[in-house]
Amino acid sequence: MCGIVGYIGYEQAAPFLLKGLEKLEYRGYDSSGICLNDGSELVVKKAKGKLEELKKLTDNGRALSGTVGIGHTRWATHGEPSDVNAHPHLSESGRFAVVHNGIIENYLQLKEYLISKGVTFRSMTDTEVIAQLIEFYYKGDLIDTVIKVLSRLDGSYALGVISVDDPDRIIAVRKESPLIIGIGQGENYIASDVPAILAKTKRIYRLENNEIAILRRDSIKIINTDREEVKKQEETISWTIDAAEKGGYEHFMFKEIMEQPKVIHDTISPRIRNGRVVLDEISLTPEQLRSFRKINILACGSAYHVGVVAKYIFEKLLRIPVEADLASEFRYRDPIVDDKTLTIVISQSGETADTKEAMKEAQRRGSHVISIVNVVGSAIATESDDVIYTWAGPEIAVATTKAYSAQLAVIYLMAIFFGDLLGTIDEKQYGYYVSELLTIPDKISQILENSTQVQYLASKLFNSKDIFFIGRNIDYALSLEGSLKLKEISYIHSEAYAAGELKHGTISLIENGTLVIALATHEPLIAKTVSNIREVQTRGANVLCLACDDHKELADVAQSTVFIPKICDMMLPSLAVVPLQLFAYYVASAKGCDIDKPRNLAKSVTVE
Ligand code: F6R
Repeated sequence: MCGIVGYIGYEQAAPFLLKGLEKLEYRGYDSSGICLNDGSELVVKKAKGKLEELKKLTDNGRALSGTVGIGHTRWATHGEPSDVNAHPHLSESGRFAVVHNGIIENYLQLKEYLISKGVTFRSMTDTEVIAQLIEFYYKGDLIDTVIKVLSRLDGSYALGVISVDDPDRIIAVRKESPLIIGIGQGENYIASDVPAILAKTKRIYRLENNEIAILRRDSIKIINTDREEVKKQEETISWTIDAAEKGGYEHFMFKEIMEQPKVIHDTISPRIRNGRVVLDEISLTPEQLRSFRKINILACGSAYHVGVVAKYIFEKLLRIPVEADLASEFRYRDPIVDDKTLTIVISQSGETADTKEAMKEAQRRGSHVISIVNVVGSAIATESDDVIYTWAGPEIAVATTKAYSAQLAVIYLMAIFFGDLLGTIDEKQYGYYVSELLTIPDKISQILENSTQVQYLASKLFNSKDIFFIGRNIDYALSLEGSLKLKEISYIHSEAYAAGELKHGTISLIENGTLVIALATHEPLIAKTVSNIREVQTRGANVLCLACDDHKELADVAQSTVFIPKICDMMLPSLAVVPLQLFAYYVASAKGCDIDKPRNLAKSVTVE
């Protein structure tokens, strides 16, 4: 979603703003813009399309003077992607400029009101009402004015505001959309995410809802909407600048696929001590944990697919009913959730609006929420009752890979932990699962070392028009992710089907040469999946099968077969997902797609 960056210091601001925006490109955008206070006026430059356009327009920022400025990458919601709808937005007289991430829900009423008072609007955006309201209410004190404007706004926002009359301050505000304040020396920054400012500082404050930051060159003051000062805890970012760079790889996605052994190791190893799974993060007593009658998993996209895998694992190991729910559907269906339901929320960004709102709905109904989140200090992490962090580091590619894998690793830890507590697994199983878990990083490394076969298959198959992923049980859960990965970055239509369901309708789509990717790793159902492979082959399908090393006979069943190392059944998705990620990556690469920033997609989806 949109990205915000701001600078106040003694250097020329525009080059820094453009570099910062570049680091936020991963969030998804379709236009960009910057605004500088050049000492006498606010100068705005905006461009539809890639950031390159804005760089050309401003000679990489060199053409714009001014040491105070704000910048923005816009992912269109209200009004098409265009120069005029791009941010920053100016008030009518040009004295105030605003960048905004989020949605102002009551913008139409506010716009009508301002128009009735004679204000003229330029854009179709909800954001412009903020700039216009500031000018409308301004009586000489910018902070008072911003507070008054906030009281008129419904919705979500992270804002950066500058004024020509107030050349030595940036005002930043947050409500339901992320915003951080970077602490520098003789200069300070605002940004939607850490990579934008990492080249300058690792010291940050994370703004919380309804906090207002007032940045000067040499000071940062944070207040609430009653103008009382808020004492914030400074945070030091632990990751290095390399973590947010491509490190020699052509794409972030490939780098992140390669990082998976480390990420899984980092996520599990601090939580296994002397052979026991330790989840200190969970604040519930064993009695409370034993009292749950149902587990409810809420998430979106790939994180939801982790939830579907978790449903199979938890139900088998814990013998508790589990519902994996799309967060965007959950809160509008009057869900049956109460204090006997444990809710698990999964989110890489921790800012996904659908997931966050679903979580709040579950909390309102009395459910205890454990979140699995990657971004430290994000909204879901701070607002859930307990948080288990995945230690995946920054994930920049829009298509998630390493965060998905780290989330799966947390699911295995939880399954073992709860299974022990509930007495549904015995000591022998416990030891076996823990030892299998520890083998995942090495086994993924083996798969990555042998990626050329997948690359070869992708080079033969990248012209496919429709691709079907099939599997049963946990293989079905994984096929959902395989299909999403492929379609989101390669733009090839693909669907995931429970293999046994195909004959109930979809098999009519199989014709000569249709590519079917059959996942046949789940030991108890391999024979059944082989029957489904035969069904589609009889109708002309070209089958690529994914199987475990100990089932070499499957090479004689499918037209091509990729083998992965054997591991206990419930952990198979962690290995099997890797060839699927690689296949999606190599197909997209062969098609020349913009792999890290697929069209229409945003990394952190902060609107419903
Ligand atoms: C797909 C992908 C998305 C996210 C989804 C949830 O590759 O990345 O489907 O999984 O938007 O995002 P988070 O995990 O940030 O809540």
